[in-house]
Amino acid sequence: MTTSPLPAFPPGFLWGASASAFQTEGAADAEGKGPSGWDAFAAQGRIKDGADASRGTGFHERYREDVALLAGLGADAFRFSVSWPRVIPGGSGPVNSRGLDFYDRLVDELCAHGITPAPTLYHWDTPLPLDEAGGWLRRETAQRFAEYAAVVADRLADRVPMWITINEPAEVILLGYALGEHAPGKQLLFDALPAAHHQLLAHGLAVQALRAAGADNIGLAVSHSPVRTAGTSDEDRFGAELYDTLTNWMFADPILTGAYPDEDFATLMPGPVAEDLAVISAPLDWYGVNYYQPMLVGAPATDALDDFAGIAMPAELPFGIRRLESEQRTAFDWAVVPDGLRELLVGLRDRFGDRLPPIHITENGCSYDGIDDQRRIAFLDGHLRALHRAIDAGVDVRGYFTWSLTDNIEWVEGASQRFGLVHIDYDTLERTPKASYAWYRDAIAAQRAGSGN
Ligand code: FCB
Repeated sequence: MTTSPLPAFPPGFLWGASASAFQTEGAADAEGKGPSGWDAFAAQGRIKDGADASRGTGFHERYREDVALLAGLGADAFRFSVSWPRVIPGGSGPVNSRGLDFYDRLVDELCAHGITPAPTLYHWDTPLPLDEAGGWLRRETAQRFAEYAAVVADRLADRVPMWITINEPAEVILLGYALGEHAPGKQLLFDALPAAHHQLLAHGLAVQALRAAGADNIGLAVSHSPVRTAGTSDEDRFGAELYDTLTNWMFADPILTGAYPDEDFATLMPGPVAEDLAVISAPLDWYGVNYYQPMLVGAPATDALDDFAGIAMPAELPFGIRRLESEQRTAFDWAVVPDGLRELLVGLRDRFGDRLPPIHITENGCSYDGIDDQRRIAFLDGHLRALHRAIDAGVDVRGYFTWSLTDNIEWVEGASQRFGLVHIDYDTLERTPKASYAWYRDAIAAQRAGSGN
């Protein structure tokens, strides 16, 4: 697909791609790595087709190939994640220096190619012993996370100029603790809320630990979706508002304003909540937004209307998720709504004003099959234009990391959903750049030429 050139993004804008450890590394028990809650979940047959991530994309062995692909793209930065159980296999106690050595090599390789390493410290792979002890339901897990953050920063802060504490805490809580569709498979519904507080605390404590270890330029990656109300009844409005609060504001508000979106939430949270909120809301250098699609939400539905990535929502929940009609849909059946990105960014700016730090889009992308992925090109083009409209409207956005550099293990969907700019043959682990790779490379080059960078 030929697209007209993108409008010029601000000088210094970071062009990047994202990935995560569980989804790519493989080498699940190599060099002293311990199991994660996700490895255990896979072993229970919870990933489609009985797949697991023991091979992943082979990133642990082939990272040099992937860094070369990033270099070929002209990427400024690479967002990857550090596997907590690779670094501290027991979740607490001894550090596995061979695990750290891997990230050391990866960071060096990125730096040698002039690519900014942007590690996420937690992209969902909790060390299994911590998960077995209660995971994020336990306050201690937040402390363990801060200790781990310090260990990673001690080793890497001299070369890593950009840090991400936690990825998508709302998904961990909703899918992992409330609905049981992701590891650790708990179905606690609203009793999952303490786990939300502990993840927030983990973020805050990790920010302190990172700064104490000399790390700077710290953010996190939060998923945001504009919420549309399905229907017109009071129940519909209530359902949509509650969903909006739980998924968009329960994490953003404490982090950016030091308060839960609703006093009732604060009273449901464990521990010295006011003191914790002071830790949670320590100023950030930037705020990461992951965007995929808007959500259409109303009163609970009984007739299989619920459509949260194919997940059945329990009838006890006071909201129901509906299928949002859109002309284009991804292979995952997600709605393609580029302007939702502009809408949510302007909404964040309006809600938080001066309290909103500069933004990076830490994830945005789509699953489609095939190497000649013209629909991914259309998706990226549309979303980058929407992002530019947000910048024009005055939102301070500093970078864009597409999800994902290569196809990878899409959690419970296994290898079936392909989000990469680069195709992975899961039999041979051969990498083949798709049409979208060439498109993104050319778009980045045109931006550089335009800004004289
Ligand atoms: C996000 C996750 C990421 C990837 C994309 C498709 O929710 O952070 O790991 O699975 O969705």
